[in-house]
Amino acid sequence: MRKTTAVLVGCGGISNAWLNSETVKKKVDVVGLVDLNPAAAEAKKEKHGLIKAVTGSDLDAILRQAKPDVVFDCTVPEAHCPTTLTALKHGCHVFGEKPMSDTMPNARRMAAAAQKAGKTYAVMQNRRYLKGIRALRRFLDSGALGKLVAVHSDFFIGAHFGGFRDVMEHVLLLDMAIHSFDQARFIIGADAERVYSHEWTPRHSWYKHGPSAAAIFEMTDGVVYTYQGSWCAEGCPTTWECSWRLIGERGTILWQGGDDFRCELVDGDKGFTRPIKQKTIPIICPKALAGGHNSAIACFLDAIRKGTAPETVCTDNIKSLAMVHSAVKSAETGKRVTITL
Ligand SMILES: NC(=O)c1ccc[n+]([C@@H]2O[C@H](COP(=O)([O-])OP(=O)(O)OC[C@H]3O[C@@H](n4cnc5c(N)ncnc54)[C@H](O)[C@@H]3O)[C@@H](O)[C@H]2O)c1
Repeated sequence: MRKTTAVLVGCGGISNAWLNSETVKKKVDVVGLVDLNPAAAEAKKEKHGLIKAVTGSDLDAILRQAKPDVVFDCTVPEAHCPTTLTALKHGCHVFGEKPMSDTMPNARRMAAAAQKAGKTYAVMQNRRYLKGIRALRRFLDSGALGKLVAVHSDFFIGAHFGGFRDVMEHVLLLDMAIHSFDQARFIIGADAERVYSHEWTPRHSWYKHGPSAAAIFEMTDGVVYTYQGSWCAEGCPTTWECSWRLIGERGTILWQGGDDFRCELVDGDKGFTRPIKQKTIPIICPKALAGGHNSAIACFLDAIRKGTAPETVCTDNIKSLAMVHSAVKSAETGKRVTITL
């Protein structure tokens, strides 16, 4: 089968996760590398031995020359919209890093442009492609917990990145919480309708704006989802997947990320607190869905080959992004916000 040809834009830190993935190595010919800083594109070409790749800082010119099937967008959030619009104009499918965009109007513009071009634009949500979350979803589908009524997630990591995040507005909500909110939609199988949130910059913060936040979402189906997190909390970290508490009609699941589950189901109808029994969550997940970036890229390539919609196609992923931007709006206004697309 002919390999898919791709131009990768944005040759910074995360592009290594794309270029190092087995899927890209086996199934993709990287024919171009673009970065505002051409030396970064050259360095990436050298590092990954991409001898066929033309490099430069002008995406339009590189796309005219390389004519790829797809563009991988690994630029910073403000550049996702112009990069995607340019790629679609050249008739390319686009798979771009999270978050879909820096603003909702830009996200809508991107989704409309993909529809008009008849091309697929999807967003990297690699935290859906992990063994634990797939096993959890499978267990919830079994019905053992009953219907979910409330889901809570904690995210606390003292992360010292340097770079664009240090000066970005709403850094936790825009750059990290998108993962957790998208995971929440995936776990609960519902979308968010309203949110109330609060965002702050602690006294000792090494970020300029908003490394800490808390949000309460009202989801469809009456489920309440709460999030609290910080990128500016030293010590006792959670995992990057968050620490989750899921409450269903018949019991509770704690998930600390990875394979770390505890589940207790009610086992009787007498007593102040009812008797409970421990339940093991089987860690079952097809290998193809357990590889983070690697699996997400493989699923995207498979979908464009078959002409189907990938799981994180822009028209779905915009619902996760709307949770982020509505939480930002609520934090800014101090009001509960109705979430619209
Ligand atoms: N999925 C994940 O787990 C994950 C992890 C880290 C970062 N990310 C996302 O990946 C994106 C990039 O993050 P990073 O950590 O690699 O940042 P980075 O700063 O290390 O790299 C970004 C690169 O993009 C280049 N760039 C910026 N604007 C551009 C433009 N208009 N055209 C071409 N190049 C441009 C910069 O020069 C830089 O080299 C962000 O959206 C970030 O949120 C995702």
